[in-house]
Amino acid sequence: MRVTVFGASGLLGQDLVQALSGEQLTAFSVEDADLRDSARIAQLVRDSRPEWIILAAAYTDVDGCESNRDLAFAVNCEGAIHVAQEARETGSRLMFLSTDYVFDGTKKLPYETGDPRNPISVYGETKARAEERLLEMLPEVCIVRTSWLFGRGGKCFPATILQLAQTRPEISVVNDQRGSPTYTRDLASALVELCRKQARGIVHATNSGDCTWYEFAKEIVASAGLPAKVRAVTTAEYPRPACRPANSVLWPESLSRYGIQMPEWRDALRRYLTEVRVL
Ligand SMILES: NC(=O)c1ccc[n+]([C@@H]2O[C@H](COP(=O)([O-])OP(=O)(O)OC[C@H]3O[C@@H](n4cnc5c(N)ncnc54)[C@H](OP(=O)(O)O)[C@@H]3O)[C@@H](O)[C@H]2O)c1
Repeated sequence: MRVTVFGASGLLGQDLVQALSGEQLTAFSVEDADLRDSARIAQLVRDSRPEWIILAAAYTDVDGCESNRDLAFAVNCEGAIHVAQEARETGSRLMFLSTDYVFDGTKKLPYETGDPRNPISVYGETKARAEERLLEMLPEVCIVRTSWLFGRGGKCFPATILQLAQTRPEISVVNDQRGSPTYTRDLASALVELCRKQARGIVHATNSGDCTWYEFAKEIVASAGLPAKVRAVTTAEYPRPACRPANSVLWPESLSRYGIQMPEWRDALRRYLTEVRVL
């Protein structure tokens, strides 16, 4: 496959580059291509003429998006549109990475792909709007919603918890937000498989199973054998600039339709901890 990746130096991007190492790959980081620069995006896509473009670049600081609304829309929505325009020009397929935060979190069951978007944060709004525009522009677009990413390539929840648990006797973690932790290595493999299978439409791709951030933290600390106590707190006790959905578990049927099943999150966490030499 001829594939172009935007966001190559991000958490997911680094594992994507590895997962695509046997393919004809062109990979761009933010230094090579700012999504806001439409002329640059056009030049790079036209030069590489890929079968697939995987758009993993984004402004992902969920709290930062609240105070930088214009930047968030410029990167996550307008930037995605720039890439989609070039995908249309060159006849490339586009895979766009989106998020569980397009939902408001009030549903009691896992979210299905057709459930209405109702973001409660600026970050979620930028992604929801981008999804709508891309679906209008490119009927064949593949939108992959994922959640709670962790990986070896940078800052992520398990790395933060490990660091805190090594330096504090007790850490407080919210216990009223539920989702599915997802290992970027597993997600990257699933994305490559989806490209091979010519996936289209909206697909939910996360590690299987779900938990709260508190349960996730407990598992990290226990697996690493650290003595720190993990205390459950509520979102109200731990206010942040951006609202997060209380439930953002994504129903996996859209992924299993392509014959893809992702491992359980605890299994993914164990492999991550082994990779970072904690286990
Ligand atoms: N992380 C999660 O929990 C999560 C959950 C659901 C969905 N997603 C989505 O999954 C995708 C991958 O996420 P990730 O965790 O790998 O994100 P990440 O680590 O933040 O990587 C995103 C990359 O995009 C780059 N970038 C930022 N602004 C840019 C711009 N204007 N032009 C070009 N590149 C720019 C970033 O560069 P800098 O680092 O230099 O800013 C970074 O290398 C994103 O679309 C994200 O929205 C993530």
